[in-house]
Amino acid sequence: MTAAATRTVARISGLGKQFGDRIVLDGVELDIHHGEIVALVGRSGSGKSTLLRVLAGLSDEHCGTVEVDDRFALAFQESRLVPWLSVVRNVALGLPDPRQRRHGAHRARAVLDEVGLGRCADVWPLTLSGGEAQRAALARALIAEPALLLLDEPFGALDALTRIAMQDLLLRLFDEHGFGGSSQMRV
Ligand SMILES: Nc1ncnc2c1ncn2[C@@H]1O[C@H](COP(=O)(O)OP(=O)(O)OP(=O)(O)O)[C@@H](O)[C@H]1O
Ligand SMILES: [Mg+2]
Repeated sequence: MTAAATRTVARISGLGKQFGDRIVLDGVELDIHHGEIVALVGRSGSGKSTLLRVLAGLSDEHCGTVEVDDRFALAFQESRLVPWLSVVRNVALGLPDPRQRRHGAHRARAVLDEVGLGRCADVWPLTLSGGEAQRAALARALIAEPALLLLDEPFGALDALTRIAMQDLLLRLFDEHGFGGSSQMRV
């Protein structure tokens, strides 16, 4: 095992989160290392999305320690593309720096090619099928070459065959990119 394979990209210790009286997360311990695929499995309402939101810094007021590699990207259950921007400009939004975003079309087209959507670069998001929209959202998450890719059931709304194709695509991209790179941690 290499040093890169053991680098920690997320470290959660003693995490607790409640909404009013409802305790959703209680004493969660989780380390995620570079190169690992971690699946959160639980009943509806058990707190999976809440945990991802905490990891992505979208949820305040929790207890415990949460350290996350700065270079993370998040894809949601719905594609959440901006309807008034072309697909390629939506993908460029995944770049962290606004100047990079303005000049990021070339890179965005390359990532769209990778997810098999090169021909849709210049169309409006509303003209995409559900699976195409999810691939565009995946491209937006991948464009910054994240160290940690957080996926909240992004293929849940797709039919079974499309979902299998998307899972295969994701595994291929994971093999190619490893979603690795940085050890910056945000606390
Ligand atoms: N902003 C919020 N305010 C109040 N309660 C919330 C809020 N967000 C989530 N909850 C509650 O926290 C619990 C966990 O929700 P969460 O969305 O994390 O579940 P989940 O495991 O992702 O479920 P699913 O599999 O259905 O997506 C639910 O009971 C939900 O109603
Ligand atoms: Mg959820």
